[in-house]
Amino acid sequence: MLFDFLQKQGAPQELAELIVELGRAVEEISGTIIHESTGKAGTKNSFGEEQIAMDVEADKIMARYLSTNPYVAAYCSEEMDAIGKGTPGGIYSVFHDPIDGSSLFDVNFAVGTIIGIYEGAEVLGRTPREQVAALYAVYGPRTTLMVSVGQGVHEFLLTAEGWELQEEALEMKGDKKYFAPGNLRATAERPDYLELVNWYIKEKYTLRYSGGMVPDVNHMFKKGSGVFIYPGMPSAPEGKLRILYECGPMAYLMEQAGGASSNGEVSILDVKITGLTQRSPIYLGTPEEVKRVESFLKQ
Ligand code: F6P
Ligand code: MG
Repeated sequence: MLFDFLQKQGAPQELAELIVELGRAVEEISGTIIHESTGKAGTKNSFGEEQIAMDVEADKIMARYLSTNPYVAAYCSEEMDAIGKGTPGGIYSVFHDPIDGSSLFDVNFAVGTIIGIYEGAEVLGRTPREQVAALYAVYGPRTTLMVSVGQGVHEFLLTAEGWELQEEALEMKGDKKYFAPGNLRATAERPDYLELVNWYIKEKYTLRYSGGMVPDVNHMFKKGSGVFIYPGMPSAPEGKLRILYECGPMAYLMEQAGGASSNGEVSILDVKITGLTQRSPIYLGTPEEVKRVESFLKQ
């Protein structure tokens, strides 16, 4: 089902096969999540963040699929210190956040996996616009997969029979007033952000914020409306979210659905990739909402 759909979308056979494999990895992570301990792993990732057992487990699952896939030349994740070598002759590099929102795991909120795929083994000096596909999985009450190979964004649902198409061609065209203001702490350092948040309150926007980028942005996709913001602040100008593992794939999907992405100046898709640990402020949502954030946050 997933393979045929991707081929109909014009994905080359190798890319479609790779995404089907990633779908299997997601299925395995989904099965593991249900029983995994919520405890800490006792280790830190390359960003110095404490890892939970599920971060390590999901990263291992992804590495097992990626390191053995004939089409993968290189791969890396938020949890890895260096690029992993794929198969000689591989054609794609894959960047992922195996469990996004790990700090929400012990309270049983939804978490996700984010994946971006590039052609070639080298990404430095390139931009996220060069991704050939991006996907994310949401592990909520159900497991869903949002995928794009450059022909719109489509949602699949994990069923007993595998991935079933749930919603085709999602579009960010609505005008419902949803806002997801990440890094609200920044309002203490940024009066412009405080002003924007107060504007949303005054305009009676509905708050939809769980603290997990994947479910929070997924809400925007499913409703076709709204805006997700994770700004920087003077003490952390680049914010928290990472270009390769989080911002790039989410921005690719958002723009494929007719939405917009921004780092405050340009589309996230046009930010030059300078390092594996590069972070960026990010705004994602309908073009109108993203423009509004850009005009408020001038600092
Ligand atoms: O890994 C990043 C993440 O968990 C995102 O899913 C989320 O948007 C963000 O961190 C929230 O960060 P904080 O709780 O530090 O504001
Ligand atoms: Mg993350």
